[in-house]
Amino acid sequence: MPLCVLEDVKKTYRIGEDEVEVLKGINLQVERGEFIAIMGPSGSGKTTLMNIIGCLDIPSSGRYILADKEVTHLSDDELSVLRNEHIGFVFQNFYLLPYATVLENVLLPTLYMEHSKNGLARKRAREILELVGLSDRAKFKPNQLSGGQQQRVAIARALINNPDLILADEPTGQLDSKTAGEIMDLLAKMNEQGKTVAVITHDAGTAAYARKTLRIRDGLIVD
Ligand SMILES: Nc1ncnc2c1ncn2[C@@H]1O[C@H](COP(=O)(O)OP(=O)(O)OP(=O)(O)O)[C@@H](O)[C@H]1O
Ligand SMILES: [Mg+2]
Repeated sequence: MPLCVLEDVKKTYRIGEDEVEVLKGINLQVERGEFIAIMGPSGSGKTTLMNIIGCLDIPSSGRYILADKEVTHLSDDELSVLRNEHIGFVFQNFYLLPYATVLENVLLPTLYMEHSKNGLARKRAREILELVGLSDRAKFKPNQLSGGQQQRVAIARALINNPDLILADEPTGQLDSKTAGEIMDLLAKMNEQGKTVAVITHDAGTAAYARKTLRIRDGLIVD
């Protein structure tokens, strides 16, 4: 069974009287261990699709099955449990807490876990910081780091709950091309270590790291 199965997923937003159909029937399977890129023009529905794959939102119609579990009709609480268990997010703007240290930022997702054992989580956070090459920055604040380092903190944070799937929305959008390459190398390394990775990007160079590229146009996958 694939990690993600989307069947005729549609997403419609209602604004006042108007309905805007943003996803118009997405069929998609993501196998475990895959590394995919999602490309498409601005406004084509990439982030909307990522929000559904990442259990931040649910389809208006169609079906979504993540790790053999039907997501389609779950409540917000149920979605957040599933999200914590399976998904690590990385965003263009890093979204780090400015007043928290690198280590605290990485630990953030563990605060919501009922059974998180603090000492264990800290040990794991330090191991992951080692993995992303930031052991010597654990006590720094985000504004004391370069853009690439901040994004590596965000990747470490995405990894802390040992997710099956890393979802990255324009993870290199704020970075120069050399730093972008380092971030993509890191995501490729995570993929080699068994993580399923999906990256949304405008940039063909970034997409080239993936083993498969999906193109989305006007709410549909076109190839
Ligand atoms: N919460 C919302 N309410 C209403 N419309 C929305 C909402 N979120 C997104 N949309 C609309 O859905 C369309 C697709 O948006 P989305 O953010 O998925 O595009 P995108 O492909 O990620 O674009 P970009 O490359 O610019 O990030 C847009 O036309 C947008 O206006
Ligand atoms: Mg977007």
